[in-house]
Amino acid sequence: MKCVVLGAGYVGVATGLALVERGHHVELVDVLPKKVAALRRAEVPFHEPGVPEALRAALAKKLLRVSADLVAASREANAIFICVGTPPKANGSADLGFVKNASKQIGVAIRETASHPLVVLKSTAPPGTTTGVVRPLVEKASGLTEGRDFFVLSNPEFLREGSALADAKDPDRIVIGGTNPEALERLVDLWKPGASVPVVKTSPVAAETIKYASNAFLAMKVSFANEIANLCTRLGVDVYDVMHGVGLDARIGRLFLRAGAGFGGSCFPKDVRALEVFARAQGVALRLPRATLEVNESQPLEVLRLLEEALGSVRGKRVALLGLAFKPDTDDVRETRALPILRALEQAGARVVCWDPKAVESFRRLAGTDLDATGDMEVALRGSDAPVIQTEWPELRQLAPSRWRSLMKGRIVVDGRRAVDPTAFETAGLAYFAIGYPVPQAGTKRPRKKKAAASPD
Ligand code: UGA
Repeated sequence: MKCVVLGAGYVGVATGLALVERGHHVELVDVLPKKVAALRRAEVPFHEPGVPEALRAALAKKLLRVSADLVAASREANAIFICVGTPPKANGSADLGFVKNASKQIGVAIRETASHPLVVLKSTAPPGTTTGVVRPLVEKASGLTEGRDFFVLSNPEFLREGSALADAKDPDRIVIGGTNPEALERLVDLWKPGASVPVVKTSPVAAETIKYASNAFLAMKVSFANEIANLCTRLGVDVYDVMHGVGLDARIGRLFLRAGAGFGGSCFPKDVRALEVFARAQGVALRLPRATLEVNESQPLEVLRLLEEALGSVRGKRVALLGLAFKPDTDDVRETRALPILRALEQAGARVVCWDPKAVESFRRLAGTDLDATGDMEVALRGSDAPVIQTEWPELRQLAPSRWRSLMKGRIVVDGRRAVDPTAFETAGLAYFAIGYPVPQAGTKRPRKKKAAASPD
């Protein structure tokens, strides 16, 4: 099949490569000439494991081409995937500007096309976008009729950054929303799901709702674990033990119960908020998404609370903020919890030095140029009163705890992600503090102050 993928971000590039793997010919189209030129050289403008290699191979075999010319790319296309961004507007609703532009361009591009293409919305968008926005705009710009000359479908994407390619190639389910049964089957055939991959065939509105509800539920699991963690802190028990026991119930599941500094990224915060705003516009007040976000907002302050409990005041102290990306294996800093932690530390008078192996530059753009930041973890740790771990990069475990100790001035380590082994750190003579984790072992001192500042509970 000839597939066009519009929008060369995480979703577009991974979708394109997954389609190549299914044996299709792919034209990856983006409006930014610089991005197109870079991708043609197999230079990927974001850090995503495996993608540069797969892109290089697909380009070399001429199974994938990159261009800025949607009209040429769409000639005789069997399927056109819309993979553009839906960033948040100031009021939290999804900005559909890029989806609208893409729809209009697709309409113009398919005017002369006789291949009855599938126009597939992959971007995360509010329920009703496929049939209420994409369909009329493509019809208007093309002069064609949906359901006869072309077909619109929703096919939400569930990939995660950091494992985008593997997730796109090997999804745990495929959700397709369409009104024309034949078009729906064409899209299923295009994805060639293995026998073990469930395919949900439904209406476009239901498919779009599945995407929002999935992200909201996962985010809610994280916030739930975080609230229980704050209780565990008070109880002196380990929230990881608690959530392990909870997650073994098959009805609950083990994943996404890792408590810590909260969730970030380009999807959870934006989509949970957009769902809430969208539902409100429909006259439905969703309370759980709101509570999910509230917990997430206060969770970074738990890190500061722990630090103050361990150190006393942080004023004038040198704090190493370790990990700036919203999670490991990415340089993405959108909605990273590193920013509220940094701001809270600065406000409390700490001198902060930041470290990240991939995201220093992107974080600098977010936080400001006067940021003290380094890509060398030892530089950040040297002379620090206390490091605060925000992203669970593997590098943190690779440096021996004895080395941490010799570099650091202080003895306190605050782990916002359970990134390192508490026992190894305690053995090296460090006091390990984490969200939802009991008091450090004997030999290290933890001042016993009754203080509940900034705790969300
Ligand atoms: C998320 C979803 O997991 C994907 O299924 C979805 O396709 C994607 O959003 C999207 O809508 O595009 P992603 O944002 O890449 O993927 O990252 P996740 O791995 O889900 O992590 C999100 C955040 O939650 C991270 O900040 C992570 O540190 C945090 N998290 C995750 C926790 O704090 N605890 C957990 O147990 C799991």
